[in-house]
Amino acid sequence: MAEQLHIPETASRAQRYRALLPQLQALFAGETDPVANMANCCAALRQTFGFFWVGFYLVKGDGPFSSQELVLGPFQGDIACTRIAYGRGVCGAAWQRGQTILVPDVDAFPGHIACSSLSRSEIVVPLFRGDGVIAVLDVDSDRLNDFSDEDRLGLEAIAHLIAPLL
Ligand code: SME
Repeated sequence: MAEQLHIPETASRAQRYRALLPQLQALFAGETDPVANMANCCAALRQTFGFFWVGFYLVKGDGPFSSQELVLGPFQGDIACTRIAYGRGVCGAAWQRGQTILVPDVDAFPGHIACSSLSRSEIVVPLFRGDGVIAVLDVDSDRLNDFSDEDRLGLEAIAHLIAPLL
């Protein structure tokens, strides 16, 4: 297992995602435990980009959507809300829509759940098993408008990599 990440010292997030992806792949290849892999994924993202908060919420509960909810999984950052209902907040909306939601200003997103008042912008990426969403990857920034399509592409690639391991 790689003992440390090697990320180029460049301002380009796209380049840093490109460098990070194969290293995450190598890290995951040596471990089958989903919690360990999600935990290292969060640490690697926070280490590489200095994000304010990075974490997974996992779809849990049996039956139709009404009895399922998102439950907090491995994360890096301040303590956070533990349960989010289907369709609620940015995370619940990304689950419901089955697509990435990029929020440049959390105050302008109706129903945003403020786990921390310091969070200013956010991106949430769903993880799929088949057609179903099994988790979301949530990244928060303490800066307004901090995420772009580069983050969407990079985080979707990471979500694609880790989803089969959950
Ligand atoms: N802001 C999220 C809640 C999770 S925290 O940001 C960690 C939301 O609106 O779903």
